[in-house]
Amino acid sequence: MDSVHYQSLSFQLEGQFLGFINKPNGQLKSLRLMLNDQELHIKLDKELRGSLGYGLAVGDWIQVVGKQKFKGSFNDFKLKAFQVNRLSYSLDRSPSCPKKGKILLCNKSDCAKNGSEELYQALQKTICRLGLEDSVTIQKTSCQKRCKKAPNIILMPGKEKCSNPRPQNIANLLRDHYLAPMD
Ligand code: FES
Repeated sequence: MDSVHYQSLSFQLEGQFLGFINKPNGQLKSLRLMLNDQELHIKLDKELRGSLGYGLAVGDWIQVVGKQKFKGSFNDFKLKAFQVNRLSYSLDRSPSCPKKGKILLCNKSDCAKNGSEELYQALQKTICRLGLEDSVTIQKTSCQKRCKKAPNIILMPGKEKCSNPRPQNIANLLRDHYLAPMD
């Protein structure tokens, strides 16, 4: 049987981020990019999957760097991304008027054992990436009485409780709470 030969070329594309496509298990699989009125689906490299999800919002302008593999004909190709850089915020994101707030992070025994310090670091990093450092602070607290679900946070205002958030969900959580347009 003939073996299939792939040829690959590097690519660098700039367009508007339209969101992710997930695998059935919830892991990121591809990203959707709007380029010249055409939607492209670009597979994400394994290492990139872990770090993406922070700070990207639908409508952001991004640069995607990767490899394009041709399988036989010029029209039959796959795109794989190795690097994604945000170029600018989307216009409807209103990053300049975030809501003021505070994140209450439990710092007591069960939460500490289950990664409250790592969560603190991830929250801080995400706050900076979303440009929220002047409006959202983190306050360490005593037990929030949900120790089995540790580590725990409460988003203020609104008292939204959240237990053990996945790193890839933190940006969405903060964006929804502090950057969503006011009703
Ligand atoms: S130790 Fe964190 S909720 Fe109890």
